[in-house]
Amino acid sequence: MSTAQISVVVIGSLNMDFVMEVAQLPLRGETVPGRGFVTLSGGKGANQACAVGRLLGRPGGAMVGCVGEDLLGHRLVESLQAAGIDTGWVRVMPEAPTGVAMIVVETGGQNQIVVSPGANDCLGPEEATAALTALGGSHLLLQLETPLATVEAAARHARSLGMTVILDPAPARPLPAALLQCVDLLTPNESEALALAELGGSRIELSEAPAIAARLRARGPEQVILKLGEQGAYVMDGTGGRHFPARRVTATDATAAGDCFNGALAAGLADGMGLAQAVEFAIAAASISVTRRGAQASIPDRREVDSLIDAAREERT
Ligand code: RIB
Repeated sequence: MSTAQISVVVIGSLNMDFVMEVAQLPLRGETVPGRGFVTLSGGKGANQACAVGRLLGRPGGAMVGCVGEDLLGHRLVESLQAAGIDTGWVRVMPEAPTGVAMIVVETGGQNQIVVSPGANDCLGPEEATAALTALGGSHLLLQLETPLATVEAAARHARSLGMTVILDPAPARPLPAALLQCVDLLTPNESEALALAELGGSRIELSEAPAIAARLRARGPEQVILKLGEQGAYVMDGTGGRHFPARRVTATDATAAGDCFNGALAAGLADGMGLAQAVEFAIAAASISVTRRGAQASIPDRREVDSLIDAAREERT
């Protein structure tokens, strides 16, 4: 275990991704030919932790979660350690297999994902709160691939410790008011934002973003960031709203782009960036990740993101 001072704690899932490429995503009941099968490290929690590890630019990220007592779990822990993450609070559960995800990615980058949570369902509220007390840190990253009671207990406890709580409400599900009131920063993508706002649909026009962000903010979070894919991000806090455009790239695989965004955002904030600078940093990181295959395999390091931001600044001057 690393002895570095912890800044960002991630509580969440670790999955091994079984990935195939297809020309077009299959319809219900359809069989389609795939190619390029690979197993790659993933899980929304672990992906965000990996992004923190690569983008913080120093040790200071920790992962809290559960894997099975099997080869897949071992590989997932190794992958986080290679990214510089403290994995001392990743428990090995003999009674459950490591979580897995079946992912198909179509040409152009869109995907379909089915997750079997396995050991991720073993992460209980007591474990999460004990980890937070032991690790400390300034920022907590949460998602929804572990039991909701654990997410709620972690958010409440982090609040009481004075940490900033960032919740990625993915995969989408209804959320209790008590949880949203403990969240400082909520970061849904388009379909998650629409589900949480009880509006239905899957796409948000930029002109609709202010009303949707305001509706979500009214439920508790001080800051809301709508992740709008190729439309960029829309940020609303107590001072108003602002649109941040995306960078133009050719997408290969959108898997974990949202996770990369969240990890980069937390790394930036923990590094002392203001919200606007951290959002620009997160957009740059995610724009690199969509040009590469896989979840953790696609996440850039600090040097790559800094060079992209510097190059864009030079182009403007
Ligand atoms: O957000 C992408 C992730 O969702 C994948 O890595 C997969 O494991 C699922 O958790």
